Amino acid sequence: MSANKQNILLLGGGGRECTLAWKLKNSPLCGNLYIAPGNAGTGEYGTNLAVFVSDFEAIKQVCIDNRIDILLPGPEDPLVAGISDFFVADPALSHIVVAGPSKEGAQLEGSKAFSKKFMARHDIPTAAYREFTTESYDDGVAYLKTQQAPIVLKADGLAAGKGVVIAQDIEEALTAFHAMLKDRQFGDASSKVVIEQFLDGIELSVFALTDGENYVLLPEAKDYKRIGEGDTGLNTGGMGAISPVPFADSSFMQKVVGQIVEPTVKGLKAEGVDYKGFIFFGLIKVAGEPFVIEYNCRMGDPETEVVIPRLENDLVEMLLKMGAGKLNEVVVQHSTQAAGTVMLVSGGYPGSYAKGKVVSGLDNTEGSILFHAGTASQNDNIVTSGGRVIAITSFGGNIKDALAKSYLVADKVNFDGKYYRKDIGWEF
Ligand code: AMP
Ligand code: GLY
Repeated sequence: MSANKQNILLLGGGGRECTLAWKLKNSPLCGNLYIAPGNAGTGEYGTNLAVFVSDFEAIKQVCIDNRIDILLPGPEDPLVAGISDFFVADPALSHIVVAGPSKEGAQLEGSKAFSKKFMARHDIPTAAYREFTTESYDDGVAYLKTQQAPIVLKADGLAAGKGVVIAQDIEEALTAFHAMLKDRQFGDASSKVVIEQFLDGIELSVFALTDGENYVLLPEAKDYKRIGEGDTGLNTGGMGAISPVPFADSSFMQKVVGQIVEPTVKGLKAEGVDYKGFIFFGLIKVAGEPFVIEYNCRMGDPETEVVIPRLENDLVEMLLKMGAGKLNEVVVQHSTQAAGTVMLVSGGYPGSYAKGKVVSGLDNTEGSILFHAGTASQNDNIVTSGGRVIAITSFGGNIKDALAKSYLVADKVNFDGKYYRKDIGWEF
């Protein structure tokens, strides 16, 4: 491809963004790479800028000052807040390729009620549901009393991954329903609540990049959300991930594409929703059939830490093709090797934890790639600055081999209070 080098601004500062920075920097098409705000790891691949992902005016100035060609928002918040529309509407920014949907498209993640209605309109398999607001609170209570547990309650809006309750009995469901609607547990995000049927199955994450017309499928992945071994304890941002997913065989993936991915891309187009960017399908396999648990309008974290290293295409070229509406010209190539990632986290996470702990042993990590998640540079040290600290990704002939390499390195990298799950990929 004869495109010029592209100046790129990547928004975010976690393991996902460190992986994207690593991948973008690998491209011969990558010009200057900036990450806002980034972390100690992204600083190895580009220039970190002290700008918040939600500060659109500051982001605009960065784009103008650095002649940015491509904006890649890592997390959902700026997308749900409308950063794509902000760029389209501003003549100083409208030439920039934004790898993320319009505010309306981001509602697939930003509003559970929006995404459930969208799926209903396009016959996309998902759990049966009802939605309720403060006005229909009493109807909701009456409805819950007719239901079987377990049952799932979801705050409509973004709630930092905490807005979902899987109630084990109806009493617990009623308490959670009250907390969300009456006590506004999640503020405006819980002014509407979706109550849905509990689906019993195995989860996986599927990713597409779409230009609004065409799409390409990236390797699938599975993440491990619980803090404790054996998938126990509190939910976290993700303690590890694997790709490929052994139970996502080709007949299952055909169903995913035919029943979910294609109807989603076509449905967005048919409804005139402007969507150029990643679609993350949070799926569950129930008796061999795929159902959508949720959509996200971005890549997953820590799934990115295994999906992107397996992707062999040039990501900058893919984003340019996306911007030009030419993803039909891209054929995804990915490694036949398996990848596994293990997340080192701060002791106490996902509750409260200490920051500023010096990270050592970062040099002795051959055979693995370290993606920083919550780190900062302080004097000459790298210190912890978040709950999830470093993701260790390795390749192998199979998932076990890949993870065995990551676990060797997980032992060597140290900081006070380090914790990690020793059973990532345990089922395979
Ligand atoms: P969500 O934020 O919608 O992805 O929900 C968070 C997590 O709750 C999911 O990853 C699932 O593990 C679980 N979950 C959500 N909805 C359901 C459902 N209908 N049935 C079973 N588990 C669910
Ligand atoms: N790993 C799940 C997410 O990124 O939402």
